[in-house]
Amino acid sequence: MKRTADCAIDEVRSLAASEFDEIRRLAHRSFGLDLRDGKEELVSARLRRLVGSGNFHSFREYCHHVLADRTGDSLAAMIDALATNHTSFLREPDHFEFLRKEVLPSFAGREGVELWSAACSTGEEVWTLACVMNDALPARRIRISASDISNKALRVAAQGVYSAERCKELPAAWLKRYFVAAGRPPDAYQASPELRQQARFQRLNLIERLSWPRQFAAIFCRNVMIYFDRPTQEQVVNKLAECLEPGGYLFVGHAESLSRVTHTLEYVRPAIYRKPGKRGAQWPRS
Ligand SMILES: C[S@@+](CC[C@H](N)C(=O)[O-])C[C@H]1O[C@@H](n2cnc3c(N)ncnc32)[C@H](O)[C@@H]1O
Repeated sequence: MKRTADCAIDEVRSLAASEFDEIRRLAHRSFGLDLRDGKEELVSARLRRLVGSGNFHSFREYCHHVLADRTGDSLAAMIDALATNHTSFLREPDHFEFLRKEVLPSFAGREGVELWSAACSTGEEVWTLACVMNDALPARRIRISASDISNKALRVAAQGVYSAERCKELPAAWLKRYFVAAGRPPDAYQASPELRQQARFQRLNLIERLSWPRQFAAIFCRNVMIYFDRPTQEQVVNKLAECLEPGGYLFVGHAESLSRVTHTLEYVRPAIYRKPGKRGAQWPRS
């Protein structure tokens, strides 16, 4: 008789310390995640469904399958399950205020401006950036690159559809100008076709080589480095710095001070850093 998914999940043996260790090493090596002691329950809860639905009897069996799968699909599914995708529109709003007041006005005469939302999760950060930029600049000059390691999160981000409940943080003027409502009264909103045309989404692992053909005026890499250990944070910050044009800004989460990380960026204010040097008038090429 075929086992139901729930039954299979119930039959998965509990996570042993040695299995947690194996998963911890794999997650660190593959995604940079620092799964410290105390995260056993979280890991078990997030991976149990994958273990059960794959008909593996133990986390060890599952782990060996992930390692043996040369397609990378199992590893991608693993990070989809392990990643914390929590995000919201206008999260840490002072960053958007700084962008609006201090950064965007200096681009008034520029041919084009490109920002990167690195670890964009389900996209709320991307569309918030798009609204702020469209308020300040002509649409044709705006580009946003957005990336995340999670395919599941990226699918939601690229579609740009959110429940009315999730959109309640958005100003009414933005909803009217930059979103298309569904239902009456609206129960969901989608980022408008104009906004969606300005954004490009792709899967990108921040601990791997970053090879952008150009540098960015600003990078938002927020609330992901808290999941990395210090050496990984340092590597990531220095790679991000290379992806910034001179004078460009790096925004990190407020819980992610870079004070214990060695880097070349100037401190501007909490969670905002700037690459030394003078910005050019052209769209920069690296
Ligand atoms: C908590 S969300 C942050 C979303 C958004 N930046 C914000 O501040 O609201 C963290 C995101 O980092 C992504 N992530 C985790 N490890 C990553 C890695 N190695 N490379 C790229 N993204 C990663 C997760 O998939 C998740 O979507």
